[in-house]
Amino acid sequence: MGQLLCLYWKETVSLNGVRYDVIKSVGEGAFSFVQLVKRGSDSYALKRVLIQVPEHKEMINREIKAHQSIKHSHVMPLVDYEIVQNSNGSEARLLFPYHKLGSVQEIIEVSKITKKPIPEVEILSIFKSLCSAVHAFHSHDPPMAHRDIKPHNLLIAENSTAILMDLGSCREAVVRINSRQEALALQELAAQDCTAAFRAPELFEVPSECIINEKTDIWSLGCTLYALAYGDSPCDGTALSAVSPKIKTDDTRYSDHFNKLIVNILKNDPVERPSALEIIEMINEINNEQK
Ligand SMILES: Nc1ncnc2c1ncn2[C@@H]1O[C@H](COP(=O)(O)OP(=O)(O)O)[C@@H](O)[C@H]1O
Ligand SMILES: [Mg+2]
Repeated sequence: MGQLLCLYWKETVSLNGVRYDVIKSVGEGAFSFVQLVKRGSDSYALKRVLIQVPEHKEMINREIKAHQSIKHSHVMPLVDYEIVQNSNGSEARLLFPYHKLGSVQEIIEVSKITKKPIPEVEILSIFKSLCSAVHAFHSHDPPMAHRDIKPHNLLIAENSTAILMDLGSCREAVVRINSRQEALALQELAAQDCTAAFRAPELFEVPSECIINEKTDIWSLGCTLYALAYGDSPCDGTALSAVSPKIKTDDTRYSDHFNKLIVNILKNDPVERPSALEIIEMINEINNEQK
């Protein structure tokens, strides 16, 4: 009888009065988990975040606001959301379109296991769509930075393109630092928001007088491009490796132009890093030369 009941019992979850069937779990973070849910034949990803301290609430509000501000075909749209009060405190529920092809990290893992490199044209197609998504953040008024670009936060869409998601770390891009105290505060924030192996060198050692800007995202783009080609970020998450990343420049799996593109993006000095639009132009040039 118990087994029969189990067969017919369906877990459901509601969002603004609408019920969804929970199908399976698709991801888990420190304070959140993501479930595949269905309403009729429509599939969605539901991100559920437990709000335990005021900082979680702040992060969720930032994530929601970023989705409302940045609309782009390669940035994850927020379909609906609700903050629900329950016996354990409160929980944020964010509903997104479901992408069944999984994350870019998953295709990197498959390529590592099968020892089959991801073809250069495919990487460049994914990366170009990612750069167009990043340009939408950087050209916003005021400019915004995603601050956590990495293969885990990219989903694969049709035609070898990517969707940039997880906007929980998104903040205004330009930060003026005028004291040691401000520098340390930003360093601490970056340590929370920005995954270490993809974090720009200037966020590890923030100078006491400086302007940090959207070029931190460009560094993360370079690490992401490298991981697509060679399996992992060229940095191991330490400040030292962010200053001198281990970049292969003579690997013949990819063209010289491709390897040079990585080197041109991963410049220690943020001023020397290209913009997202300039990277798109560089990709177009590589594509034209290979025709
Ligand atoms: N819309 C979606 N479609 C398919 N899988 C998703 C979707 N959103 C999230 N996921 C999966 O859930 C994981 C965690 O989601 P994410 O928003 O990055 O949460 P966190 O803030 O905990 O990192 C992702 O890496 C991805 O594997
Ligand atoms: Mg994430």
